[in-house]
Amino acid sequence: MPDLVIVNCRQVVTLAGPARARTGAEMRELAIVTHGALAARDGQILKVGTRAEIERLLSPHAEIVDAGGRIVLPGFVDAHTHPVFAGNRADEFEERAEGATYTEIAARGGGIRATVRRTREAGEAELLDAARRYRAWFLRGGTTTIESKSGYGLALEAELKILRVMRQLGAEGSLRLAPTFLGAHEVPDEYRGRRGDYVRLLIEEMLPAVWREGLAESCDIFCEPSAFPVEEARGILRAARSLGFRIRMHADQFSADEGSLLAAEVGADTADHLERTTERGWTALAAAGVQPVLLPASVYCLGSGRYPAAREMIARGLAVTLGTDFNPGSSPTTSMPLVLSLAVTQLKMTCAEAITAATINAACSLRRGGSIGSLEAGKLADFAIHDCEDYRELPYFFGRDTARAVYIGGVRQIC
Ligand code: NIG
Ligand code: FE
Repeated sequence: MPDLVIVNCRQVVTLAGPARARTGAEMRELAIVTHGALAARDGQILKVGTRAEIERLLSPHAEIVDAGGRIVLPGFVDAHTHPVFAGNRADEFEERAEGATYTEIAARGGGIRATVRRTREAGEAELLDAARRYRAWFLRGGTTTIESKSGYGLALEAELKILRVMRQLGAEGSLRLAPTFLGAHEVPDEYRGRRGDYVRLLIEEMLPAVWREGLAESCDIFCEPSAFPVEEARGILRAARSLGFRIRMHADQFSADEGSLLAAEVGADTADHLERTTERGWTALAAAGVQPVLLPASVYCLGSGRYPAAREMIARGLAVTLGTDFNPGSSPTTSMPLVLSLAVTQLKMTCAEAITAATINAACSLRRGGSIGSLEAGKLADFAIHDCEDYRELPYFFGRDTARAVYIGGVRQIC
């Protein structure tokens, strides 16, 4: 592969800094190189600097790309997605506008279970086609890595099918995936009334099978009284831990603090959502070093208006992280630029804090902070050229996907 050089960048937003998640005032430090250039060799970043500095390093056959005065950012790392499912739920979306709530729809057999029924019927090829379509959308927003959950199979074979689709998508190399097993997303139809049997199935068969096949690195659970209450969640997460899974959790989306306290107790990497968390939960997460993953697009889409308290979390030293929560129910968006906009307008984060949360902090939440999330020599050449002159325009001009060109491992992607 010839060297790759991106020149004429109004800003190269590097996020260079300590190789760990950023907290407090560090979240405002983007380490921007103005009027800069970036060089990559063999899929890795060689150097970010002025054009003159970069040109000195060049081999004569380097491919030179003119960014046209635009900005370069690390590829976004989307820390929470559910990208493999069949069909969609535009019907429920409209019903909510007419007054139905997300939990009511779920209680009557819609919601997650509706998507499970359709996903079970779909073959691997159909699911892969759909996932490839969403991959192109992720890229258009400048995302190069996604945390990717299963959870629309809720039976051993159906969950393995989804996880294999994710593995195939990752192997194609046009989007990096960090796979998470979410068998505890909901109790499926055939186990209603005997949920203990489903919990046993999860612990005794599904978790060991997924681990054996190496199909997921983390285990997630929808911890809510209406899905998996704390007592059940604790047993499932302990079983996952003892196999070797790392833990991420859907916590405090509809009820306060129990999920975040459990996340702290089991040493989860992340607690996600946290719309209802209070002082007790923030304190426990901070003491245990759990990263909050905030998902404002799902709050927006459900129309609840109840956004998580990002400022309180940042003030307590939590390494706030952002994700889309892309899924067919509560958050049908792949757009990290939209999430940045919501982070600024609704969570009251600064533009710089939001970008930190969507890059290096998200990478660290996936234990990939050493290879992605910032533009520093030796890291993977995952970056995007965005159509603006200043990083603040990303959240400011909202409602558009801004990436002009996206590179993964130094290879330009088609999006
Ligand atoms: O993160 N809360 C549970 N899981 C998803 C929604 C999944 C769905 O509605 O299909 C979420 O919001
Ligand atoms: Fe989710």
